[in-house]
Amino acid sequence: METITFKIDGRNCTAKNGQNLIEAAKQNGIIIPTLCHFKHLNPLGSCRVCTVKNNGKSVAGCIVKVAEGMDIEVQTPELIDARKAILEMMFVEGNHFCPSCEKSGDCDMQNLAYETGIRYARFPHLFEDKIVDARPERIVVNQNRCIKCQRCIEEVKTKDGYKVFQLINRGNKTRVAIDYEQEAKLSAAQANHAMEICPTGAILVKGKTFSKPFGDRAYDNKLGLKNISANKLK
Ligand code: SF4
Ligand code: FES
Repeated sequence: METITFKIDGRNCTAKNGQNLIEAAKQNGIIIPTLCHFKHLNPLGSCRVCTVKNNGKSVAGCIVKVAEGMDIEVQTPELIDARKAILEMMFVEGNHFCPSCEKSGDCDMQNLAYETGIRYARFPHLFEDKIVDARPERIVVNQNRCIKCQRCIEEVKTKDGYKVFQLINRGNKTRVAIDYEQEAKLSAAQANHAMEICPTGAILVKGKTFSKPFGDRAYDNKLGLKNISANKLK
């Protein structure tokens, strides 16, 4: 594939023509914040945390394919604030109580809130009553923490290829629904994978919560907790 050159925040970058912008930026040492974007999945474009400007126009960075001469903006004051506002909206829409969440320290959304420097939300909290569904066989789905990123919908499938989750309803009534029959067919490893790929604490495996000690959680190194065992914290 043809190699092209483009700019990110005025820096010259090279990539393969048509390469995904998030991946191309990473190869050039630039991290564009993302939340719903996930490895091999087709771009979902649902969270908008990755918002950048492409030749002056706002667009979700994860759906952009790079091309010769593109001029991408990522870290301008306007875009940094837009990104924070999007995250703050997610926090006020759901009921996210990080200190008591089983996914704390392993949560992509919590990590991004730290990285973007969110200390409070500029919008009023909605405090909507949402269900915690423990009816599935292997998992618990806490709708209070779901940001409708759709990772689980695309990624969690039975060995026969049936989806376990789907999005239902519209607008602020949108939520993730579970196909209980298919969920019951998930192996322990598949249920664990569902918990791992959820960027918040919305999907938990029954009987497995709080299983990672301080120091072993995905983002502990950023909090200076890497290699600190639970015993040392006592
Ligand atoms: Fe995303 Fe988790 Fe909600 Fe699924 S349950 S849509 S993975 S936040
Ligand atoms: Fe691009 Fe979510 S990471 S829209």
